[in-house]
Amino acid sequence: MRVNTGRVDIFILSEHVFKFCENLQYSRLFELSAVTSTIKDCRLSVSLFLANMCLLPLLWFIQIISAVQDFPALDHIRTRTSASTQTHASQALIGRIVGKRANEFTAHVQPDLGPKDRDTFKIWSSGSYVNITGTTGVAVAMGLYYYLTNHCGCQYTWAGQQMNIPSPLPKVPAPGIKVTTNDRFRYYQNVCTVDYSFVWYNWTDWQQQLDWMALHGINMPLAFTGQEAIFQQVYMEMGLTMKEVQDHFAGPAFLAWSRMGNMHGWGGPLPQSWINQQLVLQHKILDRARELGMIPVLPGFAGHVPSAITRIFPNANVSHLPDWGHFNSSFCCNLLLDFSDPLFKRIGHEVVKEMLNEFGTDHVYNIDTFNEMLPKSSSPTYLAQSAKTVFEALTSADQQAVWLMQGWIFENSVDFWKSPQIKAVVTAVPKGRMIILELFAENRPVYRHTESYFGQPFIWSMLHNFGGTLELYGSFDSINTGPAAGRNFPNSTMIGIGMAPEGINQNEVIYEFMAENAWVPQPRGVSQWELIDKTLIF
Ligand SMILES: *[C@@H]1O[C@H](CO)[C@@H](O)[C@H](O)[C@H]1NC(C)=O
Ligand SMILES: *[C@@H]1O[C@H](CO)[C@@H](O)[C@H](O)[C@H]1NC(C)=O
Ligand SMILES: *[C@@H]1O[C@H](CO)[C@@H](O)[C@H](O)[C@H]1NC(C)=O
Ligand SMILES: *[C@@H]1O[C@H](CO)[C@@H](O)[C@H](O)[C@H]1NC(C)=O
Ligand SMILES: *[C@@H]1O[C@H](CO)[C@@H](O)[C@H](O)[C@H]1NC(C)=O
Repeated sequence: MRVNTGRVDIFILSEHVFKFCENLQYSRLFELSAVTSTIKDCRLSVSLFLANMCLLPLLWFIQIISAVQDFPALDHIRTRTSASTQTHASQALIGRIVGKRANEFTAHVQPDLGPKDRDTFKIWSSGSYVNITGTTGVAVAMGLYYYLTNHCGCQYTWAGQQMNIPSPLPKVPAPGIKVTTNDRFRYYQNVCTVDYSFVWYNWTDWQQQLDWMALHGINMPLAFTGQEAIFQQVYMEMGLTMKEVQDHFAGPAFLAWSRMGNMHGWGGPLPQSWINQQLVLQHKILDRARELGMIPVLPGFAGHVPSAITRIFPNANVSHLPDWGHFNSSFCCNLLLDFSDPLFKRIGHEVVKEMLNEFGTDHVYNIDTFNEMLPKSSSPTYLAQSAKTVFEALTSADQQAVWLMQGWIFENSVDFWKSPQIKAVVTAVPKGRMIILELFAENRPVYRHTESYFGQPFIWSMLHNFGGTLELYGSFDSINTGPAAGRNFPNSTMIGIGMAPEGINQNEVIYEFMAENAWVPQPRGVSQWELIDKTLIF
């Protein structure tokens, strides 16, 4: 992709090339150069002249009335940050993004600007100023990005920023633009992104990442940084030694997989300095995310425990998880506490209580017990008990907790996770208290054959990237039509969209396109990717 002043060349891949690239994705063998040279032969180059967008005639759209269900159990999942704090945070963001031009923008957060449980922004020209009002800090940032991309030919991507803003600021045709999001939540990150991309991030990098999130409308980011400090505290209070806890954690670049219980110790031991430094970083990340009105997702307790737990509790009822990724017995087959063992709830309670004390909470927790590891029994009774126990442990420390579970297992191990197994897990928890992150919705949408997750809310998420590889491909058609199809599914329980790439800094085009699903009223013409000034006059 080439990005220069006001112009983006986009290579839209034909269905044929796309399928080819998708196969490459699974083989993971090809380098970027090999893929791009193949693509060159059959690509269709489409040029968009973003700077011309303000010349487009104003178009009117009728907002599709959403048929999606309401979940009273999610009523409290909203920012607790005051409008004035969010206003200041969004003004500071504008300063970071547009630099010296910041004094030509005004930003204001007004929570009642739009309908309940949606985000709305309003942009209008007032003299030489551009004024932006939004329901949250994120909504203001989204409005800013809408203006910068559609009216100024600018772009803010992971790889680089084009912020050559025309002077004077292009006018927003009177009386302005008002846009409301399609869904309540926009989720971002994969449990693996922490290693494939973020592992060596310092605060400067995180700050840019958080700005990228806000501009692209993300209001529900995963916030996994610094969790080892919490688990270390809990386990050491229970009597484990420093060494025993260190043997449980992987090294920094492999933490994603020790957190998931896939293996332990690989690339370790984790230095204490790293554990401490990540804790400090997590505080900064959470503060920034919350001041912009986001709802960061914290980790909870999934049942994976250090092997030394049996030294402290000789009667603990544990079993070994299956080998994952061919690690040998020094690193594989972590212990899983049995769901009937009272120790499960005790540790789960301690972990979440410690997390609350340290970080506060927005009541959403990601927990995955069986990520890429098959449970020892496929009995729906066993699986329902596993989910009940995880949820009870969680809610014993936070009564208002909502469990965000990745649906990856249902997509990844279809022979094991059949309808009765999926139903057992998702209906073991009260309605609305579990959100399923439909991780790979652009490719294998599970909600369609599970009656929309049997009534539990889900997030339509694009996975797109595996292993942080650099490959030019993407399911444009699916990303274009999928979210709308999810919302319009009979008795749909879809409550948001998401982007969950295993690694970032690749194929920006797909993410720019996907992020627009936050507000585009209907699928676009992919071959031209018409950037439409969706103008709703207020
Ligand atoms: C827009 O912002 C400018 C600069 O702060 C301010 O003078 C003007 O009153 C604002 N317009 C409205 C309609 O609020
Ligand atoms: C963070 O790391 C980048 C290099 O990746 C460096 O340029 C920057 O100065 C660092 N920031 C801080 C606060 O250390
Ligand atoms: C351990 O858990 C299993 C179920 O997985 C149960 O059958 C067994 O009775 C438990 N053992 C003890 C000692 O509680
Ligand atoms: C596992 O592999 C590592 C090297 O990767 C080796 O040092 C260790 O001895 C092996 N453990 C067993 C039990 O074979
Ligand atoms: C939608 O829900 C209603 C009421 O629960 C039910 O009668 C109907 O069969 C459902 N429709 C589908 C397509 O599942």
